[in-house]
Amino acid sequence: AAVVEHTFKVGGTKITQLCMNSVIYTANQQLPGPTIEVTEGDTLVVHAVNDSPYPLSLHWHGVYQLRSGWNDGANKITQCPIQPSGNFTYRFNITGQEGTLWWHAHSSLLRATIYGALIIKPRNGPSGYPFPEPYEEIPILLGEWWNRNVDDVENDGYLTGLGPQISDALTINGMPGDQNRCKGSAMYEVEVEYGKTCLLRIINAAVNVELFFKVAGHTFTVVAADASYTKPYATDVIVIAPGQTVDALMNTTASPGRYYMAAHVFDSKTVAVPFDQSTATGIVKYKGVPNYAPAAMPSLPPHDDVVTAGRFYWSLTGLARPSDPGVPTTVDHNMVVTFGLDQAPCAPNQTKCSGFALVAAMNRNSFQFPDQKVSLLEALYKGVPGVYSEDFPDFPSPMQGFRKATAVKKVKYNDVVEVVLQSEQYSSTLGTENHPIHLHGFDFYLLAQGLGRFNPSMKSKYNLVDPQVRNTVAVPAGGWAVIRFMANNPGMWFMHCHLDAHLPLGLAMVFEVLNGPAPNLLPPPPVDHPKCHG
Ligand code: C2O
Repeated sequence: AAVVEHTFKVGGTKITQLCMNSVIYTANQQLPGPTIEVTEGDTLVVHAVNDSPYPLSLHWHGVYQLRSGWNDGANKITQCPIQPSGNFTYRFNITGQEGTLWWHAHSSLLRATIYGALIIKPRNGPSGYPFPEPYEEIPILLGEWWNRNVDDVENDGYLTGLGPQISDALTINGMPGDQNRCKGSAMYEVEVEYGKTCLLRIINAAVNVELFFKVAGHTFTVVAADASYTKPYATDVIVIAPGQTVDALMNTTASPGRYYMAAHVFDSKTVAVPFDQSTATGIVKYKGVPNYAPAAMPSLPPHDDVVTAGRFYWSLTGLARPSDPGVPTTVDHNMVVTFGLDQAPCAPNQTKCSGFALVAAMNRNSFQFPDQKVSLLEALYKGVPGVYSEDFPDFPSPMQGFRKATAVKKVKYNDVVEVVLQSEQYSSTLGTENHPIHLHGFDFYLLAQGLGRFNPSMKSKYNLVDPQVRNTVAVPAGGWAVIRFMANNPGMWFMHCHLDAHLPLGLAMVFEVLNGPAPNLLPPPPVDHPKCHG
């Protein structure tokens, strides 16, 4: 196994996008940021240098971080942020997983522009794929763009109490394409050869929206999601929530020409909350076809097409590999976790707030990041009292309103946890929305999902044979999903809504996983681990 080393300099970058000049913050002046490619079993070393004016942490989304939780990059959960002019070297092994993951800033809205692909190749090279070796591999990072400085967008969202304004465009590999008001917008284009199989590594790095994705004239075979292989699944549309990845094979057997790829929002909100109506486009061009040849546009499902989204999300099944231990059959912790948004009184410092501010919670606990000078992981490791409480409730409480708390759920090493995730209507005026729930530190088996309210009779629907394995599940608006995982990794592991707008509102909780018997211990923090300030 090799050591793969990168230096990411995070700093200001001038860019012209949507006919406007802006300064954004990027890694190494790139949007999307650099692609990291490793082979399963490698050690990844990333020297993060913070030349931006903002506190920064970098998260390796979906990487297990087995006994390397100090490197998870969740701001205030596993580390304090890297201060401006500071640096920190992330160093960890990537073992026991392969496929498409990604990395992103995990401090404030910076992740809108600081993100990239993290591709883990099989140990035996392409012959290790459980599908025919593709001729070409194409990363497709779907993103979201604001004309304004995203830190201002986030601050404003706090001051108004309503969360960030909607974005100004969706992007494919950092570019909005040609279907928007700015005719000169940059558009991603990839050249393919006729009669081959391409592997699209699709990543939803958008900040606040689930997406439909299509390529005109072509269909897909899904072979993996969230870096876990799936049984081949044929579809003409990909549905993908923030945080998720989908690996899809695409045969280039259409008549040689130019074809649009396109993405737009899937949003089944039961109340009319505005969202980005734009369509991001890119081009698939066959070799030898002139650049001016007209391109066909795919017809995307309507924005609120819950049926198409559900069909995609619920049809995937896992492709167990010989090393896969299978779904654990006994459960040590049964939990039901509801979540949603509600209205709270404006805080005195929310100076642009009128009427009410939004607040979000899981089981009526609105997650508060610790304001002490330690991260949760440091507090656990060093036994610092008073930083968090261990009373995150296993079941929803009948109480009204919210408790603001840094509450964690404590589990023992190797305990099996099952969580019914239920999207709830907390407020009679706000309705429900989709919430992609992401778990750090573990993959989980996705046993079942549905619309409406979960009840115990739905246990008969659990797929214990070949469930998909994911790190992020798109819980439908007002619907539910059941996940099960084994807590085989000591540390503090964040579970939260991957709609960035909901994170500062409190739609999060933390699993505290205790050390196992030696050698299953969390080692001491790296010597250069960032210290907290302020
Ligand atoms: Cu992709 Cu906690 O994040």
